[in-house]
Amino acid sequence: MFITFEGIEGSGKTSHVRSTAEFLRDKGHECIITREPGGTRIGEKIRAILLDPLSKDMGPLTELLLYTADRAQHVSERILPLLAAGKTVLCDRYFDATMAYQGFARGIDTGLIDKIHGLLFENLRPDLTILLDLPAEIGLARAWKQINKGARNNEETRFEEETLSFHKKVRAGYLEIARLEPERFRIIDASETEKDVREKIIETLSDAIKGLF
Ligand code: TYD
Repeated sequence: MFITFEGIEGSGKTSHVRSTAEFLRDKGHECIITREPGGTRIGEKIRAILLDPLSKDMGPLTELLLYTADRAQHVSERILPLLAAGKTVLCDRYFDATMAYQGFARGIDTGLIDKIHGLLFENLRPDLTILLDLPAEIGLARAWKQINKGARNNEETRFEEETLSFHKKVRAGYLEIARLEPERFRIIDASETEKDVREKIIETLSDAIKGLF
């Protein structure tokens, strides 16, 4: 079972991936948490280049190819072997992030991104994707609050430093992708309290995984 978590900055993916893993482990599923970019030793190095605020002059195609390189390593080194071993893989961002950020927000042809995914990754898609949705203003404010109090790595702020209009495009992109694949996506309102969002995710998941496990 391959489950991904997506959403704009400050949507709370990272803490909800963890609480979801706890819930599934309690139910007896062997869960592994991973993330993109990162998730492998090489991927963590690629992540540092991608998220470094000093990488501001990176071109959109370079960005797309670095996310793709990170994914190539991640899919072959971790995701496929873990799925083959029967594990449940919970991934903090995956292909939909490339569609939303590099496609809808940066303006790279989404058909090209889709084609690359099909050619390189045999179109490997998650069984289920939880989209944590909230207005970009609220998400960005939350993200900056965490960065300023040291709860987030301040060497990884290149995307948080993008304009509000960029993040609005990311959000709209995610909602559009989710609309096109309603059977895979579950949209959760992430503007509520952490506890309320957690309960909603667990409710949604309990329902959605009945047919998947
Ligand atoms: P992440 O670490 O999940 O951010 P945070 O924990 O701060 O929410 O993701 C890092 C950034 O990488 C995030 O701003 C979104 C971006 N990203 C892309 O632009 N394309 C991609 O394909 C992926 C996986 C992430």
